[in-house]
Amino acid sequence: MEHAVAATPAWAELLYLVAGVLFILSLRGLSSPESSQRGNQYGMVGMAIAVVTTLIVHPVGLPLIIAAIAIGGSIGWFIAQKIKMTAMPELVAGFHSLVGLAAVLVGASAFLNPDAFGIVDGVTGLIHPVSRIELGLGVAIGAITFSGSIIAFLKLSGRMSGSPILLPGRHVINLGLLAGIIGLIAYFVTDQAEWIFWTVMVLAFIIGFLLIVPIGGADMPVVISMLNSYSGWAAAAMGFTLQNTAMIITGALVGSSGAILSYIMCKAMNRSFISVIAGGFGAESDAGGAKAGGVAKAYKAGSAEDAAFIMKNAESVIIIPGYGMAVSQAQHALREMGDLLRKEGVSVKYAIHPVAGRMPGHMNVLLAEANVPYDEVFELEDINGEFAQADVAFVIGANDVTNPAAKTDKTSPIYGMPVLDVEKAKTVLFIKRSMGGVGYAGVDNEVFYMDNTMMLLADAKKMVENIVKALAH
Ligand code: TAP
Repeated sequence: MEHAVAATPAWAELLYLVAGVLFILSLRGLSSPESSQRGNQYGMVGMAIAVVTTLIVHPVGLPLIIAAIAIGGSIGWFIAQKIKMTAMPELVAGFHSLVGLAAVLVGASAFLNPDAFGIVDGVTGLIHPVSRIELGLGVAIGAITFSGSIIAFLKLSGRMSGSPILLPGRHVINLGLLAGIIGLIAYFVTDQAEWIFWTVMVLAFIIGFLLIVPIGGADMPVVISMLNSYSGWAAAAMGFTLQNTAMIITGALVGSSGAILSYIMCKAMNRSFISVIAGGFGAESDAGGAKAGGVAKAYKAGSAEDAAFIMKNAESVIIIPGYGMAVSQAQHALREMGDLLRKEGVSVKYAIHPVAGRMPGHMNVLLAEANVPYDEVFELEDINGEFAQADVAFVIGANDVTNPAAKTDKTSPIYGMPVLDVEKAKTVLFIKRSMGGVGYAGVDNEVFYMDNTMMLLADAKKMVENIVKALAH
């Protein structure tokens, strides 16, 4: 780029490239539980190389930077120790807001002191037009990420209602604001007026807020990965302003992987990306689907001993974990149960739905924590054909992801979502605490009332511990 302050030395560019390659290897590693630890290590080494290289190339205010890293690092360490697994989604949303804010602050600093960032055009004495576009885009995307992530954080942590808040004419308002932002950034290229820069920032803060407020709880996971993607693009735009190759590469990787994850999740929940962004999902969930309550339906309840007896005599058991397993932290007892069954000669497999739990990979993380071997864990499409031959489907704290209404009931809010075909197993053992409790989508599940289903009504961990005791005897 012609407006570079001092060209980054070739050795530094090379190290940035090495860091970029490590980030790509990191993402590759994170695509499977087996290689995820290695993936994380690649990422950490890559980031260390990028940070140290940048500090050597720009040794400005080193003590301040080291102090900031120490303070930020300690806060991160403290939060990581304290955070519960179930609060992970809101933590991620909170962290995204910080990435957005960082992009806004860097953009504002570059605008207020362009000389220090080497983005002044030598001939006109003004900020280089290309840099003005980068600044405008970076600040706009950063501000949207910031305010959007704050709303996502508030909704996920229950500090704000998770149901969609639908403003009349919101699509027109949003489109108008978006057009305004794009128009102002274009105008900013011809006129470096202060009011334009600050107006873009304020409008972007407002649109971030307005975009996320109408989105209902069920779509929140998609929103989180979408905001993750935005935070990456904001960082990439700032990478151009700071002329830092590592930041451009990292930002683009985060931006594109977040976009791909959003797409995969939309597919798993059978939602179109546009309908998620347009918002409002969940508003109608009260209307559709068979709700629990009303006329009491007959169901069979069983005990831990019954469950142990049935599984001991089975040839194959498929375990379906869900959000309830995470809440009760039943994964360790569950692995013990699997081990005991295997000793009895039973084939044990785990079936993971892509949106089981409350965040992508939620179940995989918990099962890995309990040292469940990876070769026993199967994705939906790889195992769904096996339920028809399985003796037992053991559902532990899952609900929506097993609900056949998703296949048959067009009025159900989860209609169209691919689900695990648990009802096809010879026997379904279903752990939940009460018949009244519903899953995330708030709908009843006809599997509870089927002839081949036995409800095991208890806390998941307690129930599995009792099954383990019964199996051991
Ligand atoms: P859910 O449908 O939410 O069902 C959870 C079940 O666990 C309920 O039946 C609940 O019944 C039971 N449960 C809760 N605490 C329990 C405990 N301590 N012991 C035993 N059971 C307990 O879970 P799911 O099947 O995993 O489906 C996930 C849902 O969340 C989907 O609708 C998905 O779209 C949505 N979602 C997913 C994500 C991601 S990315 N994974 C993020 C946000 C939302 P009781 O209350 O009767 O015990």
